[in-house]
Amino acid sequence: MTVPAILKNLRLPVIGSPLFIISGPELVIAQCKAGIVGSFPALNARPQAMLDEWLHRITEELSAHNRANPDRPAAPFAVNQIVHKSNDRLESDLETCAKWQVPIVITSLGAREDLNTAVHGWGGITLHDVIDDRFARKAIEKGADGLIAVAAGAGGHAGRLSPFAIIQEIRQWFDGPLALSGSIATGDAVLAAQAMGADFGYIGSPFIATTEANADQAYKDGIVAGKASDIVYSNLFTGVHGNYLRASIVAAGMDPDALPEGDLKTMDFGGGNGSKPKAWRDIWGSGQGIGAVTEVESVSARVDRLEREYRAARVRIGV
Ligand SMILES: Cc1cc2nc3c(=O)[nH]c(=O)nc-3n(C[C@H](O)[C@H](O)[C@H](O)COP(=O)(O)O)c2cc1C
Repeated sequence: MTVPAILKNLRLPVIGSPLFIISGPELVIAQCKAGIVGSFPALNARPQAMLDEWLHRITEELSAHNRANPDRPAAPFAVNQIVHKSNDRLESDLETCAKWQVPIVITSLGAREDLNTAVHGWGGITLHDVIDDRFARKAIEKGADGLIAVAAGAGGHAGRLSPFAIIQEIRQWFDGPLALSGSIATGDAVLAAQAMGADFGYIGSPFIATTEANADQAYKDGIVAGKASDIVYSNLFTGVHGNYLRASIVAAGMDPDALPEGDLKTMDFGGGNGSKPKAWRDIWGSGQGIGAVTEVESVSARVDRLEREYRAARVRIGV
């Protein structure tokens, strides 16, 4: 399996996934310094001009880290672009990413050839997230360099397929970089993703319960307290099916076991203030893997823990 140079030599084969509202420069910088890819959705930088400031800060702080620690340089970072017709910032966000030559662009919801070409123009790579093999083929046809297979149990907009099913289908025809998303919360699970055929574990929800995450303390505590059975799969909040913490739905005055169907037409990723953060601010996205998250800790401690588990799992199964 071929992995681009930029994704080689990570401390752990892990990408910290982009989290709406939650991932900002503090989280991304801490992830990259800890040796895993850090990422954030461009839309988290509001207003649009803030994106330039964030990229400036991330670039400078990681360069300073690399100068001070030539023996353990930071991992590269990624910016997530939501490629949906309601995202009226896409063109300006791409221009800002071009200015800072963002090394990795993660695209969600739509595959666009011109976007892949633009990223390649400044020497970056693109990873596209998909929920099935059909979308995976489309993304590669349009020029994406790699794929993120979003399986059942992922936080936010999740797929419906078993990770075994989606990875094996994609690996029948694709040998480029492939990350697996959905409930990965331990080093053991990262190794399992590799055994299955993925190159990277794509981890979201466990990073909500870190000191650097931009989330309310109650949300972080909810991730620590929650288990797989506390996760509700619904399309009510954004029009697309996703996984959410049951307690936040109850707190919003709704019955998590009797939620009405959502409407795809309501999906809105506009850059203005009228867009959707409420759905994510009040209704807390989370994957099913949070049973493994037992405390709020720093990113550095969480990555240390993942590495210890990963090494122990290798020893346990003899690889
Ligand atoms: C609160 C929350 C917000 C998310 N926001 C985004 C987003 O803005 N863009 C995106 O591509 N994925 C987003 N995701 C999905 C993650 O990138 C990733 O697929 C998922 O978190 C992985 O599953 P896990 O949470 O079980 O680790 C979000 C997930 C969560 C939990």
